[in-house]
Amino acid sequence: MIHDAVIKTARTAQHIGPVTAVVKFLTRAKDIPVTVAGIKFRNPVGLAAGFDKNCEAARFLAGLGFGFLELGTVTLRPQPGNPKPRLFRVRENKAIINRMGFNNAGAWEAARSLEKLLPLPVPVGISVGKNADCSLEDAPKNYLETLKVMYPFGDYFAVNISSPNTLQLRSLHGGDKLRRLVEPMLDFASGQKQKKPFFIKIAPDLDDKELEGAAALAVEMGFGLIATNTTVRREAVHERWRAHEGGLSGGPLRALSNEILGKTAALVKGRVPLIGSGGVSDGASALEKLKLGADLVQVYSGLVYEGPFLVKEILEYLHKHRWHPGHR
Ligand SMILES: Cc1cc2nc3c(=O)[nH]c(=O)nc-3n(C[C@H](O)[C@H](O)[C@H](O)COP(=O)(O)O)c2cc1C
Repeated sequence: MIHDAVIKTARTAQHIGPVTAVVKFLTRAKDIPVTVAGIKFRNPVGLAAGFDKNCEAARFLAGLGFGFLELGTVTLRPQPGNPKPRLFRVRENKAIINRMGFNNAGAWEAARSLEKLLPLPVPVGISVGKNADCSLEDAPKNYLETLKVMYPFGDYFAVNISSPNTLQLRSLHGGDKLRRLVEPMLDFASGQKQKKPFFIKIAPDLDDKELEGAAALAVEMGFGLIATNTTVRREAVHERWRAHEGGLSGGPLRALSNEILGKTAALVKGRVPLIGSGGVSDGASALEKLKLGADLVQVYSGLVYEGPFLVKEILEYLHKHRWHPGHR
């Protein structure tokens, strides 16, 4: 798979000084500093979770100009993910359908890899998920154990309850289940020398009631929200893609994801930080999310289709439109 090759190359290249220097030079852009959840970012454009699942290529990826990186999703134990094929490019829409299923080397391996790359020039979020063979009942313990392994290495933590590719994972959005999942993690963080912020990554397929529940809990418990993960809906692509199970991302996700982001912003009213993810592929689609209320944005599919200069292009667009934090 091309993606595996990219990560492999990046893993090697990031240790070669002249290579990283050239990449950095080519992708450099003027900073747009922003502080969110107590963390200072050089700009508000981050890499979304799933690109560097094992935290292997963070230094190279930081060199592409990102303001932050969200690494993972990491599960406690290693797992192979779903059988292949599990990733499909919907080229006509600059979209991707994936059902990777949290393929990853497990928390210990991810921690080992990341530790070697620290310190990094940008903040890193670590996305945590649950093992496929862990029941929903045991999910809080599974997430907590993963968090404990990764805690020293992340600047923030993203709790992934919204991948459509782990059976029943999305049912964790429900009020009491979400509280029971997040509480132990927040308690753990409170007991540490450094209390680090949390974000919950939500699905774009929530109904209003589910969204209201998640937003209310975020305000009450003090965690941020990432809106959104991929969608299981297929209205925005040709009908031949309906038979392809998995999460749809990229262009066709943009409107739906923005709708959820806008509703979330209206519910939380600036009381907790928001990260916008879904269909960012240029400056305009990034600015759109910032105007809807996102404090930070993330890209994944856009990077795949537009290439490594995407962050620079977005930042130049934001500068041109005189966007600055606090300006909506
Ligand atoms: C191949 C692939 C793998 C992904 N893996 C993860 C993951 O492990 N954890 C996660 O939270 N999101 C994952 N995502 C979702 C992205 O982080 C992002 O939220 C989503 O793709 C929408 O953004 P985009 O339209 O810019 O791609 C994945 C997306 C893709 C395309």
